[in-house]
Amino acid sequence: MNTHQNTVDALNVLLADYHLHYQKLRNFHWNVKGQNFFQLHEKFEELYEDAKLKIDEIAERILTLRAQPVSNFSDYLQLSNIKEASSDLVDHDMVSAILSDYEILLNQLNTVTKLAEDTEDNGTLDITGTYIGELEKTSWMLHAWNQKK
Ligand SMILES: [Fe+2]
Repeated sequence: MNTHQNTVDALNVLLADYHLHYQKLRNFHWNVKGQNFFQLHEKFEELYEDAKLKIDEIAERILTLRAQPVSNFSDYLQLSNIKEASSDLVDHDMVSAILSDYEILLNQLNTVTKLAEDTEDNGTLDITGTYIGELEKTSWMLHAWNQKK
């Protein structure tokens, strides 16, 4: 058995989470309406481009650990902790939905971190540490944007 199997399993859940999150960002990029259109249309694109890079990095980390990344959407839908969203949310609710996804992603990143610590898997820890810091910072900014005043 692969000594990294537990980490790989958790990374595959993270990979599934990121796919659902990525498509939610595209959904919101396309369907956002109202006075914040230009701002959020652009911000959601920036965020999905970042998610796209992370998706590839997570999958290739799994391969680096000599395991196979889950690669089909039907499997992502089953594995992911993240749920799809309506296309008709108002702008502030879209941002709240992204913030909820961040909590789920951070939770899964912490799970991966604990498992990677068990096997002194510093390559994976390097990735999770970076992602956690970035998500926390973007989370603060989206939270600030979402305040009424
Ligand atoms: Fe676009």
